[in-house]
Amino acid sequence: MGPQGSGKGTQAQLFARRHGYRILSTGDILRKEAMKGTELATQISNTMNEGGLISDELIFKVLRNHINELPKTENLILDGFPRTEKQAVQLDSVIDVTCTIYILLSVEEAVQRISGRVQCPEGHTYNTISAPPTEKDICDVDGLTLSQRKDDNEDAVRHRLAIHEKEIANVLGHYRTQQKLFTIHGDATIDEVSQEIEAKLAPYAN
Ligand code: AP5
Ligand code: MG
Repeated sequence: MGPQGSGKGTQAQLFARRHGYRILSTGDILRKEAMKGTELATQISNTMNEGGLISDELIFKVLRNHINELPKTENLILDGFPRTEKQAVQLDSVIDVTCTIYILLSVEEAVQRISGRVQCPEGHTYNTISAPPTEKDICDVDGLTLSQRKDDNEDAVRHRLAIHEKEIANVLGHYRTQQKLFTIHGDATIDEVSQEIEAKLAPYAN
């Protein structure tokens, strides 16, 4: 968990590659749904492009379908879920959450990072300033073309950040009560943040 641009996707990918975890990113899943050309896809796409949240019912149904398709023994990282207290409660009904990480970042740094972000259709993430791909506009991992996300404009980013600010305290409270919350400072280099996450998760990871 963390505000927009805090590095949820970047850190999930690093950790998953190192330890063989599968990532379920609700943002990536929704971006794929939004390309399907159905009426539901148009609704999802409009909400995301404005920086709003998809309803708790819909996002949970979509996530649960993905979880149910996986073997019960699969180790999972959830990137971007839960974002509301209701989602946290719903999640407890389908999986046993081992622990959660919240990455802190200031609004100014978040807006700046997002202006330089480029991604491939599979969600591999780069930054034209802090983490450029080896070859311009090409993903190092799968060779697909990199582009900017439609919701990476300043208005949508500020809207996403305002929603995050409103919802996150209750989500963090949920995991603090369960003693499953770690907080990490995101305003360091990608490697430094990654090392801090590794240290916190050492007792749990494979
Ligand atoms: P989602 O795709 O999850 O977007 P987000 O929450 O806005 O977060 P971002 O992906 O923008 O940021 P990030 O933290 O992953 O940062 P990143 O690693 O890319 O969700 C999109 C939309 O889907 C939502 O707005 C909503 O509409 C919907 N949605 C998703 N989940 C939902 C849910 N549970 N409920 C309801 N609706 C939902 O890094 C950002 C940039 O910074 C990159 O360029 C990266 O290279 C760079 N960077 C990363 N770390 C560092 C560092 N330490 N130093 C310098 N640069 C860095
Ligand atoms: Mg992300």
